[in-house]
Amino acid sequence: MGEIVNVKEIVESKKVELKRRIENLKEKRIFPKLALILANDDKASRVYVGNKRKLCHELGVLEEEYTFDENVVEEELINVIKKLNKDDSVDGILVQLPLYNHLNESKILDCISPNKDVDGFHPLNLGKLMIGEKTTVSCTPKGVMTILESLNVNLSGKDAVIVGRSRIVGKPMAQLLLSKNATVTTCHSKTKDLKEYTKKADILVVAVGVPHLIKKDMVKEGAIVLDVGINRIDGKLQGDVDTQDVLEKVEYITSVPGGVGLTTVISLMENLIEIAERR
Ligand code: GUN
Repeated sequence: MGEIVNVKEIVESKKVELKRRIENLKEKRIFPKLALILANDDKASRVYVGNKRKLCHELGVLEEEYTFDENVVEEELINVIKKLNKDDSVDGILVQLPLYNHLNESKILDCISPNKDVDGFHPLNLGKLMIGEKTTVSCTPKGVMTILESLNVNLSGKDAVIVGRSRIVGKPMAQLLLSKNATVTTCHSKTKDLKEYTKKADILVVAVGVPHLIKKDMVKEGAIVLDVGINRIDGKLQGDVDTQDVLEKVEYITSVPGGVGLTTVISLMENLIEIAERR
């Protein structure tokens, strides 16, 4: 019988460490600040931004939110980002995704100064990650690595399979696992026989947004499964993995809710504090 990872415990110890670092900064009269930009009317995004702001308050970090309605024009949003880029009191700028359909996501993300890019979405930061240079790493994959480290998993030579190839999760996740010497395969919607790959994975990361896509027959005995999916079904959250079905077969699995999502916001704070420490 496998174990559901106690992510809450991991997160609590990270919070203690972050509070200490924030205190150290404040002694040097540095007050970390996060600017959050919300330009969509998606209910889930509003919840995520709310959770990020709540964690700022809990840790004693300054934050300010900029909300735009559906009439916003690209230039208006870009001007706010440019102003925040120049504002020395702001350490990190976060644009919550997705954006309203009429806004060009890449164009907007590229306007964020790479030095304030708390999400690690800027092409320069993604490029640095690719060549193994120290950089700000996208929060969700960084959180997955935090969980694997807490479990003391030695990734060297392990077969890691990622399902999903997004800019936010799949692509940076592949680079992070590769940097720890795992053999990495990225699967996606055009993969011919998904099961062929997933059932060989020592480490399986699933981030596609298809509820309960992964069942028992698709995982390897003793695998470690990280479920990044957050799907809202009849008002309830469901992951991309059928947790109860695979539990008896795997070594560890993260749950939804109460899994990877908890470490994502912690990673965001770690990124913000790292940037503030460079001041
Ligand atoms: N939307 C879904 N995940 C994320 C994330 O990690 N950062 C931002 N900014 N938007 C998201």
